[in-house]
Amino acid sequence: MAVAVPLYIWPTINAWQPLYNAISTSPNTTFNIIINPDSGPSDGASQPEIISAVTSLRSYSNVQLFGYVHIEYGKRKAATVQKDIKTYSTWKKTTKSDIHLDGIFVDEAPYELKQLGYMKDLHTYIHKTMPKSHQKVWTNPGIPIDAKFYDYADFVNAYENSYADWAAGGNKKIPGCLRQKSTVIIHDFPKNANGKLNADTKNIIAAGYNGTYITTSSGYEDFSASWGQYVKDVANLTKTTKVKTLPACKK
Ligand SMILES: *[C@@H]1O[C@H](CO)[C@@H](O)[C@H](O)[C@H]1NC(C)=O
Ligand SMILES: *[C@@H]1O[C@H](CO)[C@@H](O)[C@H](O)[C@H]1NC(C)=O
Ligand SMILES: *[C@@H]1O[C@H](CO)[C@@H](O)[C@H](O)[C@H]1NC(C)=O
Repeated sequence: MAVAVPLYIWPTINAWQPLYNAISTSPNTTFNIIINPDSGPSDGASQPEIISAVTSLRSYSNVQLFGYVHIEYGKRKAATVQKDIKTYSTWKKTTKSDIHLDGIFVDEAPYELKQLGYMKDLHTYIHKTMPKSHQKVWTNPGIPIDAKFYDYADFVNAYENSYADWAAGGNKKIPGCLRQKSTVIIHDFPKNANGKLNADTKNIIAAGYNGTYITTSSGYEDFSASWGQYVKDVANLTKTTKVKTLPACKK
């Protein structure tokens, strides 16, 4: 299982160091990282701090980077979203730096089926605009959605909520047949709960999700105290945990 990282932290000196440490300590774990200069690309490609920090991330082979856009549940004007994607498509490798992306992270993705057309068009635009092999699409409705939406995404973040909600039944809502393409983000994990993080991580790996982020913080502005241990648990338990047999989705 991969580690998903909503990296909504500006890269001042050392701010991303806990991430570099985790990536280098767990070289067999994939890190799917969302890069977000300012609720979108903004002028990130001309900001020295972004260039330097993203280039550092690119030096690791076990990393995939996704540029953040948001779409207001299908209500944001397509032309405005396209402009952001166009900007990310120019992030590239030069002799001095490498900020190219592997794809786009689409926040505030809709869950109502009437917005399926919006998502189809967006998927088409990303494929048309992003350089070849950098066209992955990772959407974030934040809740379980109809399987039809998965046709227009490589990954769907089908859960973004607190641990309390996850434990109260959220953990049962994503159908098995969709989990290999689903990621899960859980915040407000209990602090100092001995062994609990390890046990929950193991259950999540066994359930067959593609990637997860678990944090004891309420938001994503810091690397929580549990971050290092969480990554070690994912790396270690992914090797030893048997994933349940997942059914195919009914057509
Ligand atoms: C990563 O995988 C390789 C090949 O299976 C293995 O030799 C190496 O020990 C692993 N590294 C870690 C840190 O688990
Ligand atoms: C996650 O998805 C990728 C394809 O996008 C696949 O190669 C990988 O095996 C999946 N991982 C898991 C744990 O399902
Ligand atoms: C990996 O998991 C095993 C078994 O749960 C445990 O004994 C070991 O300490 C763990 N290693 C790390 C580096 O977390």
